[in-house]
Amino acid sequence: MTITTAVSHPNIAFIKYWGNRNDELRLPASSSLSMNLAGLQTRTAVEFDSSLRNDTLLINRDTASQDQQRRVSDFLDLVRQLASIKTKARITTESNFPSGAGIASSSSAFAALALAASTAAGLSLDEQSLSRLARRGSGSAARSVPSGFVVWQTSDKDGDSFGVSIAPPEHWALVDCIAIVSEREKAIGSTEGHKLAATSTLQAARLAGAPHRLELCTKTILDRDFSTLADLIELDCHLMHAVMMTSHPPLHYWMPASLAIMEAVRGWRRDGLSVCYTLDAGPNVHVLCPAGEADHLCARLEGIPGVIRVLRAGPGGPARIID
Ligand code: PMV
Repeated sequence: MTITTAVSHPNIAFIKYWGNRNDELRLPASSSLSMNLAGLQTRTAVEFDSSLRNDTLLINRDTASQDQQRRVSDFLDLVRQLASIKTKARITTESNFPSGAGIASSSSAFAALALAASTAAGLSLDEQSLSRLARRGSGSAARSVPSGFVVWQTSDKDGDSFGVSIAPPEHWALVDCIAIVSEREKAIGSTEGHKLAATSTLQAARLAGAPHRLELCTKTILDRDFSTLADLIELDCHLMHAVMMTSHPPLHYWMPASLAIMEAVRGWRRDGLSVCYTLDAGPNVHVLCPAGEADHLCARLEGIPGVIRVLRAGPGGPARIID
C-alpha cells in the first residue's frame, strides 16, 4: 500500500463566510475572500488498506475523538464514492498551530485531506474539483486549495462553488501577526455556528452588503491599497461577530484580551501605523500589516497583557503533495 502525503495552509478570511444556503453541501450564504497563511500548516498522510475494518485517524499523534472520526469517515465516503472503492483508510495528520481556536484549522485539515485521500484513491482532480471536494469537509477549506489570495464564490449549485486564486502569494507582502490569547478549543464549532446564523435578524443586513464588500476587497488587494483594506476587513469582521452575538443561542467568541488588542490596533492606526485586525470564530486576533512593519508590530503585541504568544505568517501557496 502506498502512503500519500499532502500539506496545506490554513487561511484567514478578509471577507467572511458565516451561514450556509445548504448545510449538507456547505454551499455558503455569501461569497468570501481569504489569504493562505504560509508557515502554518497541516500535513496529512493517507493510506487505503484492504486489511482495515474501519478508518483510523491520528491527530497530532493522539487517537481522534468519535466526532472527529465520524466527520473524517463521512468525508472519506465522498472520496470512495468518486473513486468507486470501498477500502478503509489509515490517516495521520499533524498541524503546527493550535486547532479550534479561530485559526481556521479545519480549512487546512480538509484541504490536505481532500488532496491526500483523492490522490491515494487513484483520482487526479483538477483544482476546482479538489476545492469543491474540500468544501464538503469544511467550507473554508475550499479556499485553502488554490494559492495566495482566494475568492470562494457562493452558488445554489454544488458544481459552481469553489475557490479561485485572484493573486499569487508574491503579489503583496502582507503579514498576519496572530496574537494568541487562548489555545483552548472553542465550545461551539463553526459547523454548528453556521446553522445559527439565520436566527440573527442581523444576518440579512450582513448578506445584503456582502457582494459589495467582496468586490471592494478584491480591488483593494489587486491595488495593494492597505488603508481601504483596513477599514473594510474590520467592518466585515464586526458584522460577522454582530450576527454571532445576536443569534439564538448567542455566540460570544471575544475575550477581554481580544478587545484590548482590537482597541490598541485602532489606536496605532490613528497614530499612522498601517495595521488592522480580524477575528474568526475564536478569541485570537489576526493583526495584519505590510511586511516592513511586522517586527515592530509583533513586539508591541507581545507587550499587551493576556497575549500568550504571537505567530507570524505571510501569504501562502496552494495545497500540494509532498514525498
Ligand atoms: O469552514 P468553517 O466551517 O470552519 O467556517 C469558517 C468560518 C470563519 O472562519 C469564522 C469565517 C471564514 O470565512 O473563514
